[in-house]
Amino acid sequence: MSLVHPLSIGSVTVANNLVLAPMAGITDVPFRILCLQGGAGLVCAEMVSAHALNYGNAKSGRMLQVSPKEHPVSMQIFGSDEETISRAARQAEAAGADIVDLNAGCPVKKINKAGAGCVLMKDEKKLAHILTAAVKSVKIPVTLKTRIALNHKEFLGARLAKLAEDCGAAAVTLHARAAVDMHSGEPDVDALAQACAAVKIPVIGNGGITDSTRTKQFLEAGCAGVMIGRGAVGNPFIFQDIIDTLEGRAPTSHTPKSRLEIYLKLIEENVAYYGERIGINRSRKTAGYWISGFPNASTVRGEFVRLDTLPEVRELLIQTLRNIA
Ligand SMILES: Cc1cc2nc3c(=O)[nH]c(=O)nc-3n(C[C@H](O)[C@H](O)[C@H](O)COP(=O)(O)O)c2cc1C
Repeated sequence: MSLVHPLSIGSVTVANNLVLAPMAGITDVPFRILCLQGGAGLVCAEMVSAHALNYGNAKSGRMLQVSPKEHPVSMQIFGSDEETISRAARQAEAAGADIVDLNAGCPVKKINKAGAGCVLMKDEKKLAHILTAAVKSVKIPVTLKTRIALNHKEFLGARLAKLAEDCGAAAVTLHARAAVDMHSGEPDVDALAQACAAVKIPVIGNGGITDSTRTKQFLEAGCAGVMIGRGAVGNPFIFQDIIDTLEGRAPTSHTPKSRLEIYLKLIEENVAYYGERIGINRSRKTAGYWISGFPNASTVRGEFVRLDTLPEVRELLIQTLRNIA
């Protein structure tokens, strides 16, 4: 079988096994649609607090919105108790999610202090209760996103993958870095291979994928799919590029200019979706990824972050496009 293939996550068939990672502040509706157009088989939304959803927080509720243009989409929730997670999972299902994902890998202090994210890796009994409750509360598949380890002393990947399978999860995503490493360092492919050998459910490997070489390494280690995070920011066509390369076709070449053109369209989509102020604010967060690769890129970025309106942004970027090859 080709390394690139459709992926079954419970009842959901995903067109290919390349997945956009959930990234807070980044994987919103406009960016998810762009990544599906760029070849992703499945896209994951930013993590949403189950607690905030339960309390009817409007901003969190909006984060569950699904566009008809973006299926299949996975909604990720985080929380620390069965009741809250179950209710939030039902809310995600009602909002139109195809899959609901439980976050048990986030190392951010604020999340951990609330008993959620990677601290759940320390209490496997609690994690199992929460995950089982989520699985039972919805008809759509439930998945778990966690890590191969908390630290460099003990690898938990295979055990947590088995826990996910035993709790009825339809797939497990393993970030192949220890929680203490946050988002940096080399991914541990051997730890992924061990986890893949321990379960029958699909294991989706994540961490440090920026090209077809690393993708191949993960898939050959036994991963059913790969999940790409930062490699897709400013480069949403990475999915199709990897597929083309693995299938022996030359990938489409993307120049700084063609990427800037797509960025401008994304900014316009963000403004249409969120309104001018929030849309431009959100767009700014990833400017460093998009406005790059040409001589005066840093000057343009400096000017861009000072702009507040879409007409000003359009003028700057169109002028920049005229000046770059
Ligand atoms: C800005 C940012 C936000 C993130 N937000 C989330 C999140 O909401 N939920 C989650 O499970 N992981 C989150 N992550 C982790 C990513 O999903 C992914 O596991 C991590 O970036 C490693 O993949 P990469 O090396 O391909 O970027 C985030 C990472 C970044 C850089």
